[in-house]
Amino acid sequence: MTTSHDPAERAGSEPGGRSDWERFGVDTSAPHSARVYDYWIGGKTNFAPDRAMAEAIEQAVPSIREMAKANRAFQARAVHHLAEKQGIRQFLDLGTGIPTSPNTHDIAQAVNPDTRVVYVDNDPIVLAHARALMVSDEAGRTTYIHADLRDSAAILADPALTATLDLDQPVGLLLIAVLMLIADQDDPWTRVAELRDALPSGSCIALSHPTQDFDPEAVGQVVAAAEHGGMTLVPRTEEEVARFFDGWELLEPGLSPILAWHPDGEPSADPKAAYYWGGVARKK
Ligand SMILES: C[S@@+](CC[C@H](N)C(=O)[O-])C[C@H]1O[C@@H](n2cnc3c(N)ncnc32)[C@H](O)[C@@H]1O
Repeated sequence: MTTSHDPAERAGSEPGGRSDWERFGVDTSAPHSARVYDYWIGGKTNFAPDRAMAEAIEQAVPSIREMAKANRAFQARAVHHLAEKQGIRQFLDLGTGIPTSPNTHDIAQAVNPDTRVVYVDNDPIVLAHARALMVSDEAGRTTYIHADLRDSAAILADPALTATLDLDQPVGLLLIAVLMLIADQDDPWTRVAELRDALPSGSCIALSHPTQDFDPEAVGQVVAAAEHGGMTLVPRTEEEVARFFDGWELLEPGLSPILAWHPDGEPSADPKAAYYWGGVARKK
């Protein structure tokens, strides 16, 4: 009999194996951002406290699931754009989340099969599912690093990253719905600047970030519900989000509501219905 090396497989991917999850370092007693988001986008990797928080936020903002799905769709369009229009063949996906099809490598490798992807997240439940993200073959390699994006130096020096990405060639840096989980006192702007500085000319950032700009009252309720469950969530203004791209050239249409960023099909009648700014920028 062989034993799986994949904790998710050993534990079972359903919440039935609570104590198994806890042995893998997953705290199932309190809500966690990756699992709350997973619940909204229709995933199965979430526990009762995650669902309770997700539903409390949904009470305040009934369209929150649609917003989470709109964010995931923005990620897909941005990755496709980077692969097809900007010729990016290496991605660094920070704050990956629980694997959800299509993942970054699915989209990018459909355009260029030799694309390489490094995924990074600091949640043990994402680590437990990382096998779904590690699908290297002859053409394109992917890997997963369990790390905290507040330590950009450690991520950039990680042997798994340096074995997968060539930092002398352009990289697509993905910061999709993650920076709102980094408090101002941890200075996310400096952390992102350290990453920008390490990447060569031609590299791109694709970023989305929740904002209070479109509906301050509703977003205030989301923040309060998250805080009530012990989660820090920091929405940011257009000016604060724009600073993450400092010195890089924002590509058309600039920093936009995600629903207005190169929409598939008809433009949304109300692009501000999803409370996120999104944009793509390129290093000159
Ligand atoms: C809301 S999910 C977004 C997932 C995916 N990027 C998307 O937009 O579909 C945020 C993810 O960021 C991760 N995360 C939060 N803080 C982090 C940190 N300091 N370092 C690395 N990952 C982090 C969480 O564990 C979670 O998986």
